[in-house]
Amino acid sequence: MTITPFIVGIGGTTRPDSSSELLVKQVLFHLEKEGAETQMFGGAKLAGLPHYAPENDQRSDDQKYFIEAVRNANAFVIGSPAYHGGVSGLVKNALDLLEDLREDPVPYCAGRPVGTVVTAAGWQGCGVTLQSLRGIIHALRGWPTPLGIAVNSVKVRLFNHDGDLIDTDTNNACKIQAEQIINFLRTESKPNAND
Ligand SMILES: Cc1cc2nc3c(=O)[nH]c(=O)nc-3n(C[C@H](O)[C@H](O)[C@H](O)COP(=O)(O)O)c2cc1C
Repeated sequence: MTITPFIVGIGGTTRPDSSSELLVKQVLFHLEKEGAETQMFGGAKLAGLPHYAPENDQRSDDQKYFIEAVRNANAFVIGSPAYHGGVSGLVKNALDLLEDLREDPVPYCAGRPVGTVVTAAGWQGCGVTLQSLRGIIHALRGWPTPLGIAVNSVKVRLFNHDGDLIDTDTNNACKIQAEQIINFLRTESKPNAND
């Protein structure tokens, strides 16, 4: 890996101190410690993206900015809360917009690692939403990291009043996921043995 990787975080809710957003940011924090440059599209920014409509090819400045960031990214971290057993509409709306990248030489998230983060109020919500998020990433031709993070935000006290992550296991998971993304990027840039 000779260049500084550029990694885009997508996710969260419009709630202040959204747990899914803070955990995506925590993975980005560990990625920055590994030398990456990062950009976060959290709940507030995602809420500014108009509802994706396939028949409408007009794009707002926010949509164009988001698409351009995804186009230039070397990797992603995507987080969602469990909303009624799946990925939230807010996050899915942003991911649906990636349809604009279908005709790109490197379409969607193709060939790039994608860290996955889910928070839910129950363990079933954790499992089913993580699985569904991984399915979406496969559809976008990305590579979900081996470690997906899914945390029950009711059972685990994740943050202190300042919004700092205080759960050691969850922080370790964020660190491992960041390492997996960096290792993927290092492996990908290695010359093939047959070259
Ligand atoms: C509309 C809505 C639907 C939800 N559905 C589920 C669900 O199906 N399963 C679950 O475990 N938690 C569910 N939750 C709880 C959230 O997933 C949980 O509180 C999550 O941590 C919120 O993420 P945030 O902190 O990023 O806002 C739901 C919450 C809302 C507001």
